[in-house]
This record gives sequence, structure tokens and C-alpha cells, in this order.
Amino acid sequence: MDDTAKAVAGKRAYNDLQEHIAALDKAGLLTTIDAPINKDTEMHPLVRWQFRGGIPEPERKAFLFTNVTDSKRRKYDIPVLVGGLAANPEIYRIGMGVNSLAEIGPKWDHGLGNPIEPAVVTKAPCQEIVLQGAEIQGEGKGLDALPIPISTPGFDVAPYFTAATWITKDPDDGIQNMGVYRGNLKAPDRVAVMMLMSLSAGGYYHWKKYQARGQKMPVAIILGCPPVVEYTGPQKVKMGVDELWVAGGLAGGPINVVKAKTVDLLVPAEAQIVIEGLIDPEYLEPEGPFGESHGYVALEEYNMVMDVTAITRRKQPIISSIISQVTPSESSVIKRVAYEPMFLSHLRDTLSIKGVKKVALHEPLTNLRRVVMVQFERGVAKTEVWRALYGVSSFMPAVGKYCIAIDEDIDPDNGDSVFWAMSYRANPALDIQILKHRARGHGPVLQGVESDSTLLIDATLKADMPPVALPKKKYMEHAKVLWEKLGLPPLKPESPWYGYSLGDWTEEWDLAAERAAEGEYLRNGERSAQWRRKLENPQVPIRDVLGGDIFGDKL
Ligand SMILES: Cc1cc2nc3c(=O)[nH]c(=O)nc-3n(C[C@H](O)[C@H](O)[C@H](O)COP(=O)(O)O)c2cc1C
Repeated sequence: MDDTAKAVAGKRAYNDLQEHIAALDKAGLLTTIDAPINKDTEMHPLVRWQFRGGIPEPERKAFLFTNVTDSKRRKYDIPVLVGGLAANPEIYRIGMGVNSLAEIGPKWDHGLGNPIEPAVVTKAPCQEIVLQGAEIQGEGKGLDALPIPISTPGFDVAPYFTAATWITKDPDDGIQNMGVYRGNLKAPDRVAVMMLMSLSAGGYYHWKKYQARGQKMPVAIILGCPPVVEYTGPQKVKMGVDELWVAGGLAGGPINVVKAKTVDLLVPAEAQIVIEGLIDPEYLEPEGPFGESHGYVALEEYNMVMDVTAITRRKQPIISSIISQVTPSESSVIKRVAYEPMFLSHLRDTLSIKGVKKVALHEPLTNLRRVVMVQFERGVAKTEVWRALYGVSSFMPAVGKYCIAIDEDIDPDNGDSVFWAMSYRANPALDIQILKHRARGHGPVLQGVESDSTLLIDATLKADMPPVALPKKKYMEHAKVLWEKLGLPPLKPESPWYGYSLGDWTEEWDLAAERAAEGEYLRNGERSAQWRRKLENPQVPIRDVLGGDIFGDKL
């Protein structure tokens, strides 16, 4: 840790990036690569394999590259971290400073509900070195001296800031906003940025105000925030609420901030690197192509451009880069763990929907926004199920193209399981609604289509069903012990791995099955012999013939 960082550590309620990396290392969640790695062609493809190479989510790690080179054979003395914020939810948990994954949702509820004002300091680690004017102009002196990787070599036109948190300020009320936006490096002192064109997005909203005033917009890009600060950037925080305050609420104490050197903004004191500058209110510049988080390449389009006025940094910074593009990715994990609790609390606490257990945003390939599962406890009124489906599909403009209500025994993270529910628990003529006029959302445009739409499916049980046809739990558990004793290959149980009742089952049938398992099936034959009937056709349910009689203690 450098000197100024040491001076403020201990006084704060959160880890900086170096401390976070040490915690990941201790938890066995860090892979350090000391071999030379080309940031332009090798770094992201290497880490990509852990998302496309069949490695289970809990085994994904953060990668720290200590020997970074580029395609011009330059060497960088700044290490690069990829996957260090959210290669999996466990890494995110450590960054949030909570003890279990289950605490992440309540932590967000608390942080959003109890923001804490940042503490302004005058000496900050992020300003140990200050470069401005001629010091950042000319090849190799400014942004191009930083080891910023190319995310999707072969498609991206430049190195991109991916873990960059952009700070802007409302010129009317002075309230700051933070958002993570992609940044296309253009020159040692110029970077283009895509701030989503929505008046409910802080960055764009502020830019429109500066545009109306004919003024340049002051901006600061933070590379390498303390993780708890970094996580607030992609989170949907209400307009007019400063994410630095929310980060304080999450940390349980104020975030240290310092005045930027050349723009009137407060920036996180423990940041690794801060890039200050001004965004033009009129002139836009082509930006992209760049591999986007929805899994397709965003093509070249006009976007905002920032002229850099200063680069301030630690003496020994670490740059972090988020791996995004086709999901699952670090970008989708970072959003998923933050968005899911927000959706749940919207349905449960704001709309007061009864019996809702979980909201799951489907992640692999679809990128969270398109397919949403809402899980219910058994027996919830149909009207509540539909209120939840309408509620979840309208909470965020881009989320909820397909919304599916499921029961508690359906695993929302397993597409097979959801198809299973749709196949046997939904009747398309009765349990589906199609709604028009959905915004097209984040992703390539469906050719020739003005607006998208929404499909709601109630795939919950409408009545009792016969049991799931697998051996009962006790038999499967016993067989697992046997399996392991026999030295057969390791098992990874997949839900459902045992049979269970879905209501349409009786004690009488239970007894008959137990009898069979005990080797007494002949007694069951005696039982059915007593109930022989002369009928015209087979496949007549026994209860249609015998009525309630079979449910007594017949044998
Ligand atoms: C890795 C990553 C990259 C992102 N890139 C962009 C981007 O380029 N433009 C954008 O508008 N939002 C982007 N987002 C989403 C925003 O950070 C998110 O919507 C945030 O809430 C925006 O804040 P705002 O509403 O204050 O603008 C990105 C999120 C992540 C995690």
C-alpha cells in the first residue's frame, strides 16, 4: 500500500482495490499471471475461456496480470485485474463485505434506504501523481500510457474503458451521478463515451442540461474504485440520488472523496486513477464497434466525446477491466446480484404481492433482461400471480420481454426446469398474455420492428398433480452413499433428483408403494383383485369407478 493510502486506511469502513485483491487471494479466488500477456490480443480471450470453457460458476476466479505488454511490444508497470469485481457472486460478496450471498440483497436494501454523505479529504491516494497540460499530450504520454485491454479483439476498434465509473454533476442542484459507461480510447487526451439516451439515466440527463446552457460538461472517469463504490455505478439508483452516498450506506460509513484538480467534482479518494475532462455539448464523434454486454457487437454510432484535462493517480495503481459481451460474464454477474433483490423488493414490498419467493433474471446468452422468472410458494391466488407478472414486466423498460411464473420446486436457473413447468403446468390458451408496446431495449434492433412486446406465462400449478416420478428421497440418498462406496464417478445432483408429491397422491398409494419396496407387492395384487370391475374400455381412473372408497384403509 502506498503512503497516503496507508494514512487513510483504518479510518474507513470499506476496502480499497488492493485490499480487495488481497482478500480474494486469501479466499483462493485469485489467479496471478506473471507471464507476459498482450493486453490487445491475449488478455480478454484468456479470461473469456473461464466463461465459455465449461468451468462451473463457483470455480471462476479473478485474474491479476502483473506483466502486461501490447501489440507494439510496450511493457506496462501497472498490473491489470480482470474478473476481480464479479467473475462470480462469491467475488462480489467479498467486495461487498458481507458474510454470505444471502446478505447481498438486504445490504442493497439498507444501502439504498440509508445513504451516507461522503467525507471530503484534502490529501488522497488518487492524487499522488498529477499530470496535466503538455504532460498528457503526445503519443505514449496520456491515456495510451495506461494498459487498457481490447475486450473483443477482431471486432473492437480500440482499447476500451470497461470498469470505468463516470462522474457528472447536475448543473442545477449540484448533485453528482455515477454510472459505468464504455469508453472508446481515441487519443492520448480524448475518449468517446456511450451514455444511454434516456432521461432516466443520470449521465445523459446531465449532458442535456449542459447542452441547453451551451456549456461543456465536467466529467471524471474513475478507474479502480473501492469495490463497494464500483458496485453502485451499474446499479439502478433513483435520479437525484448521488451513488457515492449510496456506497456510503452500503459500506456503513462515509466514502472519502477529494476535489478533482481541474473540474468541479468530488472523486473517490482511494481510486487508482482519475481522468478529468470536459464533454462537448454539441459535437459528437463516431464511437465503436465494440462487443456489448447483450452479446452482440454494437456498431459504430455517434456518441459523446471527452477532452482530457488531467490524469491523477496513485504511485502504484492497479487497473481493473470488466469482462462483458456474451453472457454469463463479469458484467452480467455484477448486475444480476444487484438487480434481482431490487425486483424482489419491488414485488414484495412496493406492490405487496403475497407468496413471491424469488425473482431470477436469466443470464446465459440472454443477458438478464429478456427472460425473467418469478417464483411463488404453493397456493398463491391467481390474481397475485398475474399482478406479479405485470409488475415485473413494467418495473424497468428494458427488462421482462418473457416473464414466467413458476413454483418453488422449479429451478429458475435451469432452462430445462422452466421448460418442464411450461410443458405441464401451463395451458397456452388460458395462461398466456401478450402485451404490446415494449421498448426495444438493450440489444441489436429486430429489423423492421417499431417496438417490441411482452409475453407473460403463468406456469405455476393450477391444481394438484401426481408426484414427480423419481425414487423417493430416502432411496436416492441411500443410493448416493452406495454410489460413492462403489467408487463410481463423482455426482453433481440436478434438481429434481428425487420424487415428491404435488398434491394428487394418497396415503393409500403411499402404503402400497412402501409395501412394494418391502417386497410385499403380492399383497397389492390381492388388493386390486378385490376391485375388479366389468368395464367397456381401459384407462378409467380408479377413483371414477370406486369413488372415495379406495382412500380408506382397505387392506
Ligand atoms: C460493465 C458495464 C458496462 C456498462 N456500459 C454502459 C454504457 O456503455 N452505457 C450505458 O449507458 N450504460 C452502461 N452500463 C449500465 C450502466 O452502468 C447502468 O445502467 C447505470 O445504472 C447507469 O447509471 P445512470 O442511470 O446514472 O446513467 C454498463 C454497466 C456495466 C456493468
